[in-house]
Amino acid sequence: MKVTVVAGNPKPASRTLAAAHIIAHALTGREADDAVDVVELGAGLLGWGDPAVANAVATVRTSDLVIVASPTFKATYTGILKLFLDQFDTGTGLAGITAVPLMLGAGPAHALAPELLLKPVLVELGAICPTQGLYLSDKAYDQPGVTDAWMDRWAVTVLGSASASPDTTHLTRKGL
Ligand SMILES: Cc1cc2nc3c(=O)[nH]c(=O)nc-3n(C[C@H](O)[C@H](O)[C@H](O)COP(=O)(O)O)c2cc1C
Repeated sequence: MKVTVVAGNPKPASRTLAAAHIIAHALTGREADDAVDVVELGAGLLGWGDPAVANAVATVRTSDLVIVASPTFKATYTGILKLFLDQFDTGTGLAGITAVPLMLGAGPAHALAPELLLKPVLVELGAICPTQGLYLSDKAYDQPGVTDAWMDRWAVTVLGSASASPDTTHLTRKGL
């Protein structure tokens, strides 16, 4: 099972990226295979066909499980994460990939943002999102126990989904 973390934050090497790694490790018991710190892709995100962006998209598309993480900016996920997600085809870009929407925030006001705002974008791209979106405090995301309830409820479901690796060759046959 290939596991990748994606962090869409204008700040590199952020707490958001660290939180995504923590969740990947808590789910699988090991380090993620790959990480996309979206800000490193720079201006290539503003157009189509940039080789580094294409490489990052390929990294995600060849994954079985992706933790898609963003800080909360103005009640929603970041613009830079959306620039990256816009590089994936509608309906098929994340087909067969299990995705976990994860957001960090400074307070509890936007705790439903990963479920209500980030998850629908991932589903629009074809991802399987079998969990509730996960929202963590930027002050406590790395504290012991903060994700225990979420893990108890969803870890087995996530691993089952990601391990199943649904066959998407029918999409390829249709030229999608
Ligand atoms: C431009 C901007 C907007 C923000 N808007 C919100 C917000 O609406 N709700 C919230 O809870 N936190 C908000 N925050 C706080 C960040 O979401 C929070 O500190 C986040 O964990 C930062 O992640 P990082 O340390 O990985 O950059 C905002 C921060 C910035 C810089």
